[in-house]
Amino acid sequence: MSALTESAAWRALAAHQRRMATASLRELFAADPGRAAAFTLEFGEVLLDYSKHLADAETLRLLVALAEQADVRGWIRRMYAGEPINETEGRAVLHVALRADAAVFPEGRDVMPLVRAARERMRRFVDDAHRGALTGATGERITDVVNLGIGGSDLGPRMATRALRRFRAPGAPRVHFVANIDPADLEAALEGLAPARTLFVVASKTFTTAETLDNAARARGWLESGLGGAAALGRHFAAVTANDAGASALGVAPERIFPMWDWVGGRYSLWSAVGLPVALSIGMERFEELLEGARAMDAHFHTAPPARNLPVLMALLEIWYVDFFDARSRVVLPYGEDLRDFPAYLQQLEMESNGKRVDRAGRPVDYATAPVVWGASGTPSQHSFHQMLHQGTEPVPADFIVFGDRRGGPAHAALVANALAQSAALMEGDRAGEPHRALPGNRPSSVIVLERLDPEALGQLIALYEHKVFVEGVVWNINSFDQWGVEMGKRVARTLLPRLLRGGDDAGLDASTRALLARLRGR
Ligand code: F6P
Repeated sequence: MSALTESAAWRALAAHQRRMATASLRELFAADPGRAAAFTLEFGEVLLDYSKHLADAETLRLLVALAEQADVRGWIRRMYAGEPINETEGRAVLHVALRADAAVFPEGRDVMPLVRAARERMRRFVDDAHRGALTGATGERITDVVNLGIGGSDLGPRMATRALRRFRAPGAPRVHFVANIDPADLEAALEGLAPARTLFVVASKTFTTAETLDNAARARGWLESGLGGAAALGRHFAAVTANDAGASALGVAPERIFPMWDWVGGRYSLWSAVGLPVALSIGMERFEELLEGARAMDAHFHTAPPARNLPVLMALLEIWYVDFFDARSRVVLPYGEDLRDFPAYLQQLEMESNGKRVDRAGRPVDYATAPVVWGASGTPSQHSFHQMLHQGTEPVPADFIVFGDRRGGPAHAALVANALAQSAALMEGDRAGEPHRALPGNRPSSVIVLERLDPEALGQLIALYEHKVFVEGVVWNINSFDQWGVEMGKRVARTLLPRLLRGGDDAGLDASTRALLARLRGR
Protein backbone atom coordinates (compact mmCIF):
# COMPACT_ATOMS: atom_id res chain seq x y z
CA MET A 1 0.00 0.00 0.00
CA SER A 2 1.29 3.44 -0.86
CA ALA A 3 1.22 6.43 1.45
CA LEU A 4 -1.54 7.87 -0.74
CA THR A 5 -3.93 4.92 -0.59
CA GLU A 6 -3.27 4.54 3.13
CA SER A 7 -3.86 8.20 3.83
CA ALA A 8 -6.81 9.41 5.85
CA ALA A 9 -8.26 11.45 2.99
CA TRP A 10 -8.09 8.52 0.55
CA ARG A 11 -9.64 6.05 2.99
CA ALA A 12 -12.44 8.47 3.80
CA LEU A 13 -13.19 8.76 0.07
CA ALA A 14 -13.15 4.98 -0.36
CA ALA A 15 -15.67 4.61 2.47
CA HIS A 16 -17.81 7.39 1.05
CA GLN A 17 -17.73 5.80 -2.40
CA ARG A 18 -19.47 2.71 -1.02
CA ARG A 19 -22.44 4.93 -0.24
CA MET A 20 -22.32 6.96 -3.45
CA ALA A 21 -22.04 3.85 -5.64
CA THR A 22 -25.78 3.36 -5.27
CA ALA A 23 -26.71 7.06 -5.44
CA SER A 24 -29.12 8.20 -8.09
CA LEU A 25 -28.50 11.47 -9.87
CA ARG A 26 -32.23 11.93 -10.36
CA GLU A 27 -32.77 11.53 -6.62
CA LEU A 28 -29.94 13.92 -5.80
CA PHE A 29 -31.66 16.53 -7.95
CA ALA A 30 -35.08 15.74 -6.48
CA ALA A 31 -33.74 16.06 -2.93
CA ASP A 32 -32.12 19.44 -3.54
CA PRO A 33 -33.88 22.02 -5.70
CA GLY A 34 -30.80 24.23 -5.48
CA ARG A 35 -28.42 21.55 -6.79
CA ALA A 36 -27.98 22.89 -10.33
CA ALA A 37 -27.02 26.33 -9.01
CA ALA A 38 -24.89 25.02 -6.16
CA PHE A 39 -22.94 22.71 -8.45
CA THR A 40 -22.18 25.36 -11.04
CA LEU A 41 -19.03 27.44 -10.97
CA GLU A 42 -18.24 30.35 -13.20
CA PHE A 43 -15.07 32.25 -13.88
CA GLY A 44 -14.40 34.65 -16.73
CA GLU A 45 -15.81 33.24 -19.94
CA VAL A 46 -16.10 29.70 -18.56
CA LEU A 47 -19.04 28.14 -16.76
CA LEU A 48 -18.77 24.62 -15.39
CA ASP A 49 -21.97 22.77 -14.54
CA TYR A 50 -20.88 19.75 -12.52
CA SER A 51 -24.28 19.00 -11.05
CA LYS A 52 -24.67 15.79 -13.06
CA HIS A 53 -21.87 14.04 -11.20
CA LEU A 54 -22.21 11.30 -8.62
CA ALA A 55 -21.17 13.70 -5.92
CA ASP A 56 -22.81 15.52 -3.05
CA ALA A 57 -21.55 18.15 -0.63
CA GLU A 58 -19.77 15.48 1.43
CA THR A 59 -18.01 14.12 -1.69
CA LEU A 60 -16.69 17.56 -2.48
CA ARG A 61 -15.59 18.13 1.10
CA LEU A 62 -13.63 14.88 1.09
CA LEU A 63 -12.10 15.55 -2.33
CA VAL A 64 -10.99 18.99 -1.22
CA ALA A 65 -9.41 17.36 1.85
CA LEU A 66 -7.49 15.11 -0.55
CA ALA A 67 -6.21 18.17 -2.42
CA GLU A 68 -5.20 19.81 0.86
CA GLN A 69 -3.45 16.66 2.01
CA ALA A 70 -1.48 16.61 -1.27
CA ASP A 71 -0.50 20.24 -0.68
CA VAL A 72 -1.79 21.44 -4.05
CA ARG A 73 -1.31 25.04 -2.97
CA GLY A 74 2.32 24.37 -2.03
CA TRP A 75 2.98 22.79 -5.43
CA ILE A 76 1.40 25.76 -7.20
CA ARG A 77 3.77 27.99 -5.23
CA ARG A 78 6.72 25.81 -6.21
CA MET A 79 5.80 25.92 -9.88
CA TYR A 80 5.49 29.72 -9.85
CA ALA A 81 8.73 30.05 -7.94
CA GLY A 82 10.56 28.27 -10.74
CA GLU A 83 11.60 25.27 -8.65
CA PRO A 84 12.72 22.27 -10.74
CA ILE A 85 9.47 20.35 -10.20
CA ASN A 86 10.17 18.32 -13.34
CA GLU A 87 12.65 16.33 -11.28
CA THR A 88 13.66 13.63 -13.75
CA GLU A 89 14.82 16.28 -16.20
CA GLY A 90 15.95 18.74 -13.53
CA ARG A 91 13.81 21.50 -15.04
CA ALA A 92 11.49 24.22 -13.90
CA VAL A 93 7.95 24.28 -15.31
CA LEU A 94 7.21 27.84 -16.27
CA HIS A 95 4.70 27.87 -19.09
CA VAL A 96 2.78 30.32 -16.91
CA ALA A 97 5.62 32.80 -17.50
CA LEU A 98 4.81 32.80 -21.22
CA ARG A 99 1.59 34.64 -20.47
CA ALA A 100 2.63 36.55 -17.35
CA ASP A 101 2.78 40.34 -17.34
CA ALA A 102 5.18 40.81 -14.46
CA ALA A 103 8.38 39.24 -13.18
CA VAL A 104 7.03 37.07 -10.41
CA PHE A 105 9.68 34.44 -9.95
CA PRO A 106 11.53 35.68 -6.90
CA GLU A 107 13.53 32.52 -6.20
CA GLY A 108 14.18 31.68 -9.81
CA ARG A 109 15.58 33.60 -12.73
CA ASP A 110 13.53 36.37 -14.22
CA VAL A 111 12.63 34.96 -17.59
CA MET A 112 10.30 37.77 -18.56
CA PRO A 113 12.82 39.79 -20.59
CA LEU A 114 13.40 36.73 -22.80
CA VAL A 115 9.69 36.13 -23.15
CA ARG A 116 8.95 39.74 -24.07
CA ALA A 117 11.79 39.93 -26.57
CA ALA A 118 10.55 36.78 -28.32
CA ARG A 119 7.03 38.18 -28.46
CA GLU A 120 8.32 41.39 -30.05
CA ARG A 121 10.12 39.38 -32.71
CA MET A 122 6.95 37.44 -33.38
CA ARG A 123 5.03 40.69 -33.70
CA ARG A 124 7.41 42.07 -36.33
CA PHE A 125 7.34 38.85 -38.31
CA VAL A 126 3.54 38.59 -38.19
CA ASP A 127 3.07 42.25 -39.09
CA ASP A 128 5.45 41.85 -42.03
CA ALA A 129 3.48 38.84 -43.23
CA HIS A 130 0.18 40.67 -43.01
CA ARG A 131 1.33 43.78 -44.85
CA GLY A 132 2.90 41.73 -47.62
CA ALA A 133 6.49 42.46 -46.64
CA LEU A 134 7.30 38.79 -46.12
CA THR A 135 8.45 37.62 -49.51
CA GLY A 136 10.05 34.53 -50.98
CA ALA A 137 13.06 33.94 -53.23
CA THR A 138 11.35 35.46 -56.27
CA GLY A 139 10.10 38.51 -54.37
CA GLU A 140 6.52 37.27 -54.35
CA ARG A 141 4.42 37.68 -51.23
CA ILE A 142 4.09 34.70 -48.88
CA THR A 143 0.48 33.53 -49.00
CA ASP A 144 0.76 30.10 -47.36
CA VAL A 145 2.55 28.97 -44.22
CA VAL A 146 3.12 25.28 -43.49
CA ASN A 147 3.93 24.36 -39.90
CA LEU A 148 6.19 21.31 -39.71
CA GLY A 149 6.10 19.91 -36.19
CA ILE A 150 4.68 17.07 -34.14
CA GLY A 151 3.28 16.51 -30.65
CA GLY A 152 3.37 19.76 -28.73
CA SER A 153 4.86 21.51 -31.74
CA ASP A 154 1.74 20.68 -33.73
CA LEU A 155 -1.36 19.81 -31.71
CA GLY A 156 -1.75 23.09 -29.80
CA PRO A 157 -1.24 25.50 -32.71
CA ARG A 158 -3.29 23.26 -35.03
CA MET A 159 -6.20 23.17 -32.59
CA ALA A 160 -6.08 26.90 -31.82
CA THR A 161 -5.74 27.99 -35.45
CA ARG A 162 -8.83 26.03 -36.36
CA ALA A 163 -10.75 27.14 -33.27
CA LEU A 164 -10.04 30.78 -34.12
CA ARG A 165 -10.43 30.58 -37.90
CA ARG A 166 -13.19 33.19 -37.78
CA PHE A 167 -10.62 35.68 -36.49
CA ARG A 168 -8.29 35.42 -39.46
CA ALA A 169 -6.68 38.83 -39.92
CA PRO A 170 -6.78 40.83 -43.14
CA GLY A 171 -3.78 39.92 -45.25
CA ALA A 172 -3.05 36.81 -43.18
CA PRO A 173 -1.50 33.85 -44.97
CA ARG A 174 -3.34 30.54 -45.00
CA VAL A 175 -1.85 28.22 -42.38
CA HIS A 176 -1.42 24.46 -42.87
CA PHE A 177 -0.09 21.76 -40.54
CA VAL A 178 2.02 18.70 -41.29
CA ALA A 179 3.06 16.26 -38.56
CA ASN A 180 3.32 12.72 -39.90
CA ILE A 181 6.55 11.15 -41.10
CA ASP A 182 4.38 9.67 -43.86
CA PRO A 183 5.17 11.81 -46.93
CA ALA A 184 1.46 11.69 -47.78
CA ASP A 185 0.84 14.27 -45.07
CA LEU A 186 3.17 16.85 -46.62
CA GLU A 187 2.09 15.96 -50.14
CA ALA A 188 -1.56 16.58 -49.28
CA ALA A 189 -0.75 19.90 -47.60
CA LEU A 190 1.30 21.09 -50.57
CA GLU A 191 -1.35 20.31 -53.14
CA GLY A 192 -2.20 23.53 -54.91
CA LEU A 193 0.50 25.57 -53.12
CA ALA A 194 3.10 27.57 -55.04
CA PRO A 195 6.72 27.19 -53.86
CA ALA A 196 7.39 30.89 -54.52
CA ARG A 197 4.66 31.90 -52.08
CA THR A 198 5.09 29.25 -49.38
CA LEU A 199 6.93 29.55 -46.08
CA PHE A 200 7.74 26.61 -43.79
CA VAL A 201 7.86 27.05 -40.04
CA VAL A 202 9.92 24.20 -38.64
CA ALA A 203 8.78 23.85 -35.04
CA SER A 204 10.78 21.52 -32.84
CA LYS A 205 11.99 22.23 -29.34
CA THR A 206 14.83 19.73 -29.69
CA PHE A 207 15.30 19.93 -33.45
CA THR A 208 16.11 16.22 -33.34
CA THR A 209 12.61 14.84 -33.98
CA ALA A 210 12.76 12.49 -36.97
CA GLU A 211 9.31 13.33 -38.35
CA THR A 212 9.94 17.05 -38.37
CA LEU A 213 13.48 16.86 -39.77
CA ASP A 214 12.36 14.48 -42.52
CA ASN A 215 9.50 16.77 -43.46
CA ALA A 216 11.81 19.80 -43.43
CA ALA A 217 14.18 18.00 -45.81
CA ARG A 218 11.28 17.08 -48.11
CA ALA A 219 10.02 20.65 -48.00
CA ARG A 220 13.46 21.86 -49.05
CA GLY A 221 13.43 19.38 -51.93
CA TRP A 222 10.02 20.65 -53.02
CA LEU A 223 11.24 24.25 -52.93
CA GLU A 224 14.40 23.37 -54.85
CA SER A 225 12.52 21.59 -57.59
CA GLY A 226 10.02 24.44 -57.80
CA LEU A 227 12.39 27.37 -57.53
CA GLY A 228 15.67 25.86 -58.67
CA GLY A 229 18.98 26.35 -56.88
CA ALA A 230 19.37 26.77 -53.17
CA ALA A 231 20.39 30.44 -53.24
CA ALA A 232 17.54 32.27 -51.52
CA LEU A 233 15.65 29.32 -50.11
CA GLY A 234 16.33 30.61 -46.60
CA ARG A 235 13.54 33.10 -47.24
CA HIS A 236 11.13 30.18 -47.21
CA PHE A 237 12.02 28.91 -43.75
CA ALA A 238 11.59 29.97 -40.16
CA ALA A 239 12.20 27.84 -37.09
CA VAL A 240 11.00 27.64 -33.51
CA THR A 241 13.44 25.78 -31.31
CA ALA A 242 15.62 25.62 -28.23
CA ASN A 243 18.36 24.20 -30.45
CA ASP A 244 19.68 27.10 -32.55
CA ALA A 245 22.52 25.04 -33.94
CA GLY A 246 20.09 22.45 -35.31
CA ALA A 247 18.03 25.11 -37.06
CA SER A 248 21.14 26.81 -38.46
CA ALA A 249 22.31 23.48 -39.87
CA LEU A 250 19.07 23.37 -41.84
CA GLY A 251 19.97 26.76 -43.29
CA VAL A 252 17.53 28.88 -41.28
CA ALA A 253 18.81 32.43 -40.86
CA PRO A 254 19.44 33.49 -37.21
CA GLU A 255 16.82 36.27 -37.41
CA ARG A 256 14.29 33.65 -38.45
CA ILE A 257 14.97 31.36 -35.47
CA PHE A 258 12.42 31.94 -32.69
CA PRO A 259 13.29 30.68 -29.21
CA MET A 260 11.95 27.92 -26.99
CA TRP A 261 13.30 27.17 -23.55
CA ASP A 262 13.93 24.04 -21.53
CA TRP A 263 11.57 25.31 -18.81
CA VAL A 264 8.60 24.95 -21.17
CA GLY A 265 7.35 21.46 -21.99
CA GLY A 266 6.36 20.78 -25.61
CA ARG A 267 2.71 20.16 -24.76
CA TYR A 268 2.60 23.42 -22.79
CA SER A 269 4.31 25.51 -25.45
CA LEU A 270 1.43 26.97 -27.44
CA TRP A 271 1.96 30.27 -25.62
CA SER A 272 5.52 30.63 -26.89
CA ALA A 273 6.68 31.13 -30.47
CA VAL A 274 5.28 27.64 -31.06
CA GLY A 275 2.07 29.64 -31.37
CA LEU A 276 3.53 31.49 -34.37
CA PRO A 277 1.14 29.85 -36.86
CA VAL A 278 -1.78 30.97 -34.70
CA ALA A 279 -0.41 34.53 -34.59
CA LEU A 280 0.22 34.46 -38.34
CA SER A 281 -3.41 33.57 -38.82
CA ILE A 282 -5.16 35.87 -36.34
CA GLY A 283 -2.58 38.61 -35.82
CA MET A 284 -0.44 39.41 -32.82
CA GLU A 285 -3.07 41.46 -31.00
CA ARG A 286 -5.51 38.57 -31.03
CA PHE A 287 -2.72 36.18 -30.05
CA GLU A 288 -2.10 38.37 -27.04
CA GLU A 289 -5.79 38.09 -26.16
CA LEU A 290 -5.26 34.33 -26.09
CA LEU A 291 -2.41 34.89 -23.62
CA GLU A 292 -4.57 37.27 -21.57
CA GLY A 293 -7.28 34.64 -21.31
CA ALA A 294 -4.78 32.11 -20.02
CA ARG A 295 -3.35 34.70 -17.62
CA ALA A 296 -6.80 35.31 -16.14
CA MET A 297 -7.26 31.56 -15.59
CA ASP A 298 -3.79 31.43 -14.03
CA ALA A 299 -4.80 34.10 -11.53
CA HIS A 300 -8.01 32.24 -10.72
CA PHE A 301 -6.09 28.98 -10.26
CA HIS A 302 -3.53 30.72 -8.08
CA THR A 303 -5.95 32.42 -5.75
CA ALA A 304 -9.39 30.73 -5.65
CA PRO A 305 -10.03 28.37 -2.74
CA PRO A 306 -10.08 24.70 -3.83
CA ALA A 307 -13.85 24.27 -3.67
CA ARG A 308 -14.33 27.34 -5.92
CA ASN A 309 -11.35 26.66 -8.16
CA LEU A 310 -12.27 25.40 -11.63
CA PRO A 311 -9.11 23.41 -12.45
CA VAL A 312 -8.96 21.94 -8.94
CA LEU A 313 -12.60 20.87 -9.07
CA MET A 314 -12.26 19.27 -12.49
CA ALA A 315 -9.15 17.41 -11.39
CA LEU A 316 -10.79 16.14 -8.21
CA LEU A 317 -13.85 14.89 -10.09
CA GLU A 318 -11.60 13.02 -12.50
CA ILE A 319 -9.71 11.43 -9.59
CA TRP A 320 -13.05 10.51 -8.00
CA TYR A 321 -14.08 8.46 -11.04
CA VAL A 322 -10.69 7.06 -12.00
CA ASP A 323 -9.61 5.94 -8.54
CA PHE A 324 -12.88 5.24 -6.76
CA PHE A 325 -15.23 4.12 -9.57
CA ASP A 326 -12.59 2.45 -11.80
CA ALA A 327 -13.44 4.70 -14.77
CA ARG A 328 -10.87 3.93 -17.44
CA SER A 329 -11.65 6.71 -19.84
CA ARG A 330 -13.19 10.14 -20.21
CA VAL A 331 -14.83 11.38 -23.36
CA VAL A 332 -14.49 14.99 -24.52
CA LEU A 333 -17.25 16.27 -26.76
CA PRO A 334 -16.83 19.77 -28.16
CA TYR A 335 -20.09 20.78 -29.80
CA GLY A 336 -18.77 22.76 -32.74
CA GLU A 337 -16.51 21.98 -35.69
CA ASP A 338 -14.18 24.85 -34.86
CA LEU A 339 -13.16 22.99 -31.67
CA ARG A 340 -12.92 19.68 -33.49
CA ASP A 341 -9.22 19.24 -32.73
CA PHE A 342 -9.58 19.84 -29.00
CA PRO A 343 -9.83 16.13 -28.01
CA ALA A 344 -6.62 15.33 -29.93
CA TYR A 345 -4.88 18.24 -28.24
CA LEU A 346 -6.07 17.05 -24.81
CA GLN A 347 -4.89 13.52 -25.52
CA GLN A 348 -1.29 14.66 -25.50
CA LEU A 349 -1.77 17.17 -22.70
CA GLU A 350 -3.41 14.67 -20.38
CA MET A 351 -1.96 11.30 -21.33
CA GLU A 352 1.62 12.34 -22.03
CA SER A 353 1.58 14.30 -18.79
CA ASN A 354 -0.13 11.85 -16.46
CA GLY A 355 0.23 8.47 -18.16
CA LYS A 356 2.72 7.41 -15.48
CA ARG A 357 3.01 4.26 -13.36
CA VAL A 358 5.65 5.28 -10.83
CA ASP A 359 5.51 8.10 -8.31
CA ARG A 360 7.96 10.96 -7.95
CA ALA A 361 10.32 8.70 -5.99
CA GLY A 362 10.18 6.00 -8.68
CA ARG A 363 7.98 3.59 -6.71
CA PRO A 364 5.17 1.81 -8.61
CA VAL A 365 1.82 3.36 -7.78
CA ASP A 366 -1.09 1.25 -6.49
CA TYR A 367 -3.80 3.48 -7.92
CA ALA A 368 -4.85 4.42 -11.44
CA THR A 369 -3.49 7.60 -13.03
CA ALA A 370 -4.44 9.20 -16.38
CA PRO A 371 -7.51 7.65 -17.96
CA VAL A 372 -7.79 7.29 -21.72
CA VAL A 373 -8.98 10.61 -23.10
CA TRP A 374 -10.90 10.39 -26.32
CA GLY A 375 -13.64 12.18 -28.15
CA ALA A 376 -14.85 13.93 -31.26
CA SER A 377 -17.03 16.83 -32.17
CA GLY A 378 -20.75 16.62 -31.61
CA THR A 379 -23.12 16.08 -33.31
CA PRO A 380 -21.25 13.59 -35.59
CA SER A 381 -20.10 11.76 -32.44
CA GLN A 382 -23.76 11.05 -31.61
CA HIS A 383 -24.09 8.97 -34.76
CA SER A 384 -20.92 7.09 -34.04
CA PHE A 385 -20.09 6.13 -30.47
CA HIS A 386 -22.80 7.68 -28.26
CA GLN A 387 -24.66 4.38 -28.44
CA MET A 388 -21.93 2.98 -26.20
CA LEU A 389 -22.08 6.01 -23.89
CA HIS A 390 -25.81 5.44 -23.37
CA GLN A 391 -26.07 1.66 -23.31
CA GLY A 392 -22.55 0.21 -23.05
CA THR A 393 -21.51 -1.79 -20.01
CA GLU A 394 -19.24 0.92 -18.59
CA PRO A 395 -20.20 4.48 -17.70
CA VAL A 396 -17.77 6.94 -19.30
CA PRO A 397 -17.65 10.39 -17.66
CA ALA A 398 -18.08 13.05 -20.33
CA ASP A 399 -17.04 16.67 -20.83
CA PHE A 400 -19.54 18.46 -23.04
CA ILE A 401 -18.17 21.76 -24.32
CA VAL A 402 -20.60 24.24 -25.81
CA PHE A 403 -20.06 27.83 -26.75
CA GLY A 404 -22.32 30.76 -27.31
CA ASP A 405 -22.43 32.13 -30.82
CA ARG A 406 -24.76 35.06 -31.08
CA ARG A 407 -24.44 35.16 -34.85
CA GLY A 408 -25.14 31.46 -35.11
CA GLY A 409 -28.94 31.70 -34.95
CA PRO A 410 -31.06 28.56 -35.24
CA ALA A 411 -28.15 26.52 -36.61
CA HIS A 412 -26.12 27.16 -33.50
CA ALA A 413 -29.15 26.64 -31.28
CA ALA A 414 -29.57 23.16 -32.78
CA LEU A 415 -25.99 22.38 -31.81
CA VAL A 416 -26.49 23.50 -28.23
CA ALA A 417 -29.83 21.68 -27.98
CA ASN A 418 -28.12 18.46 -28.98
CA ALA A 419 -25.34 18.85 -26.43
CA LEU A 420 -27.76 19.54 -23.59
CA ALA A 421 -30.02 16.70 -24.73
CA GLN A 422 -27.12 14.23 -24.66
CA SER A 423 -25.97 15.29 -21.21
CA ALA A 424 -29.54 15.09 -19.89
CA ALA A 425 -30.20 11.72 -21.54
CA LEU A 426 -27.04 10.24 -20.05
CA MET A 427 -28.30 11.20 -16.63
CA GLU A 428 -32.03 10.56 -17.04
CA GLY A 429 -31.88 7.31 -18.94
CA ASP A 430 -35.04 5.81 -20.35
CA ARG A 431 -37.00 3.22 -18.46
CA ALA A 432 -38.74 1.85 -21.52
CA GLY A 433 -40.07 -1.60 -20.62
CA GLU A 434 -38.23 -3.42 -23.37
CA PRO A 435 -34.60 -4.14 -22.31
CA HIS A 436 -33.07 -3.32 -25.69
CA ARG A 437 -34.63 0.12 -25.63
CA ALA A 438 -33.94 0.97 -22.01
CA LEU A 439 -31.10 3.35 -21.10
CA PRO A 440 -29.80 2.89 -17.57
CA GLY A 441 -29.05 6.60 -17.07
CA ASN A 442 -27.17 7.83 -14.00
CA ARG A 443 -24.15 8.45 -16.23
CA PRO A 444 -22.12 11.49 -15.21
CA SER A 445 -21.10 14.46 -17.32
CA SER A 446 -19.86 18.02 -17.02
CA VAL A 447 -21.16 20.77 -19.22
CA ILE A 448 -18.63 23.49 -19.90
CA VAL A 449 -20.08 26.63 -21.41
CA LEU A 450 -17.69 29.02 -23.12
CA GLU A 451 -19.33 32.39 -23.39
CA ARG A 452 -17.84 32.84 -26.87
CA LEU A 453 -15.27 31.01 -28.93
CA ASP A 454 -12.80 33.86 -29.18
CA PRO A 455 -9.08 34.12 -28.36
CA GLU A 456 -9.56 35.19 -24.76
CA ALA A 457 -12.11 32.49 -23.95
CA LEU A 458 -10.02 29.83 -25.70
CA GLY A 459 -6.99 30.89 -23.65
CA GLN A 460 -9.04 30.38 -20.50
CA LEU A 461 -10.28 26.98 -21.62
CA ILE A 462 -6.82 25.67 -22.48
CA ALA A 463 -5.25 26.96 -19.26
CA LEU A 464 -8.14 25.39 -17.33
CA TYR A 465 -7.19 21.96 -18.66
CA GLU A 466 -3.46 22.57 -18.21
CA HIS A 467 -3.97 23.30 -14.54
CA LYS A 468 -6.40 20.41 -14.12
CA VAL A 469 -3.63 18.09 -15.33
CA PHE A 470 -1.20 19.72 -12.89
CA VAL A 471 -3.50 19.16 -9.90
CA GLU A 472 -4.05 15.52 -10.84
CA GLY A 473 -0.30 15.00 -11.06
CA VAL A 474 0.15 16.53 -7.60
CA VAL A 475 -2.51 14.31 -6.02
CA TRP A 476 -1.22 11.22 -7.82
CA ASN A 477 2.30 12.19 -6.73
CA ILE A 478 3.70 11.74 -10.24
CA ASN A 479 5.85 13.94 -12.46
CA SER A 480 3.46 15.37 -15.07
CA PHE A 481 6.25 17.03 -17.02
CA ASP A 482 8.48 14.28 -18.38
CA GLN A 483 7.67 11.71 -21.10
CA TRP A 484 10.27 8.96 -20.94
CA GLY A 485 7.82 6.41 -22.27
CA VAL A 486 8.01 7.94 -25.72
CA GLU A 487 11.75 7.56 -26.05
CA MET A 488 12.05 3.80 -26.43
CA GLY A 489 9.84 3.69 -29.53
CA LYS A 490 11.99 6.38 -31.16
CA ARG A 491 15.15 4.42 -30.35
CA VAL A 492 13.83 1.16 -31.74
CA ALA A 493 12.53 2.83 -34.92
CA ARG A 494 16.05 4.17 -35.50
CA THR A 495 17.49 0.66 -35.35
CA LEU A 496 14.74 -0.93 -37.47
CA LEU A 497 14.86 1.54 -40.34
CA PRO A 498 18.22 0.39 -41.79
CA ARG A 499 17.23 -3.24 -41.33
CA LEU A 500 14.05 -2.60 -43.25
CA LEU A 501 15.84 -0.76 -46.04
CA ARG A 502 18.91 -2.91 -46.36
CA GLY A 503 18.17 -6.12 -44.48
CA GLY A 504 20.89 -7.77 -42.50
CA ASP A 505 21.30 -8.29 -38.83
CA ASP A 506 18.08 -9.36 -37.11
CA ALA A 507 19.84 -10.44 -33.94
CA GLY A 508 18.23 -9.30 -30.73
CA LEU A 509 14.81 -8.82 -32.31
CA ASP A 510 11.76 -10.70 -31.11
CA ALA A 511 10.26 -13.33 -33.43
CA SER A 512 7.20 -11.25 -34.32
CA THR A 513 9.24 -8.21 -35.35
CA ARG A 514 11.67 -10.44 -37.31
CA ALA A 515 8.82 -12.05 -39.23
CA LEU A 516 7.14 -8.73 -39.99
CA LEU A 517 10.45 -7.21 -41.11
CA ALA A 518 11.01 -10.13 -43.47
CA ARG A 519 7.55 -9.63 -44.89
CA LEU A 520 7.82 -5.87 -45.38
CA ARG A 521 11.51 -5.52 -46.23
CA GLY A 522 12.64 -4.08 -49.54
CA ARG A 523 9.26 -3.00 -50.88
O1 F6P B 1 6.49 12.63 -28.53
C1 F6P B 1 7.39 13.08 -27.61
C2 F6P B 1 7.71 14.49 -27.78
O2 F6P B 1 8.90 14.63 -27.11
C3 F6P B 1 6.63 15.42 -27.23
O3 F6P B 1 6.72 15.59 -25.86
C4 F6P B 1 6.94 16.67 -28.00
O4 F6P B 1 5.89 17.58 -27.93
C5 F6P B 1 7.16 16.09 -29.37
O5 F6P B 1 7.88 14.90 -29.14
C6 F6P B 1 7.91 16.98 -30.33
O6 F6P B 1 9.16 17.33 -29.85
P1 F6P B 1 10.01 18.49 -30.52
O7 F6P B 1 9.26 19.76 -30.36
O8 F6P B 1 11.31 18.48 -29.79
O9 F6P B 1 10.19 18.14 -31.98
